[in-house]
Amino acid sequence: MARTKIIAGNWKMNKTPSEAVALINELKPLVANDDVDVVFCVPAIDIIPAVEAAKGTNIHIGAENMYFEESGAYTGEIAPNMLTDAGVEYVVLGHSERREYFAETDETVNKKVLKAFEHGLTPIICCGETLTQRKQGIYIEWIRMQIKIAFQNVTADQAKKAVIAYEPIWAIGTGETATSDQAEEVCGAIRKCIAEVYDEATAEAIRIQYGGSVNAGNAAELFAKPDIDGGLVGGASLKADFGKIVNYNA
Ligand code: G3H
Repeated sequence: MARTKIIAGNWKMNKTPSEAVALINELKPLVANDDVDVVFCVPAIDIIPAVEAAKGTNIHIGAENMYFEESGAYTGEIAPNMLTDAGVEYVVLGHSERREYFAETDETVNKKVLKAFEHGLTPIICCGETLTQRKQGIYIEWIRMQIKIAFQNVTADQAKKAVIAYEPIWAIGTGETATSDQAEEVCGAIRKCIAEVYDEATAEAIRIQYGGSVNAGNAAELFAKPDIDGGLVGGASLKADFGKIVNYNA
């Protein structure tokens, strides 16, 4: 069965709560597309107004991070049940910015993935290589390792529902997109890795996004590749262009 494309905006640390509502109101008529799952991953403080503003639309709300404990003395963190109670359905885990600036590791990503599934949240699990790793020719091995650790103790039934976002770090926010062939090479390798860890059925079901300078001009070519099931979009998700990305197939 064909996989439904999933196109998610990652707002990162942008938009106040009132700006979030204004942006959703602006984008909601533009992102209508029944063929695609549309997700807006928003800053924690924007979640409640974003869920409210997205009611009655095809927009699903995601968080940009969460903690792997249920509750307790973890100042500043957000628990999974806080997200689900607020109406969140997706959570971005292991984004390269979290790994670089907030000491996120493959091990903490794995704990968060397990916790997300326990709470019925769909994780969008990020992986990707640096430019140095690409030049060294070790990027496929690196990403296979990230994936294998992220999925430790995750069942095949859970993995089938997961979303993986392949984001080469050198393409994030730089305007330098991976070519569709470069993106497909890695997304295909990720699917093969999932087939090895689980089985063909799981590899066929799991959705793999590309992220890194996706825009209205390159989305259609990227999303046409057989192993690319949509995108995780940063900068371009904050403007009307996001509507064109979501409607790449129009
Ligand atoms: O999560 C999104 C990515 O980091 C891509 O960001 O589209 O601004 O390059 P970008």
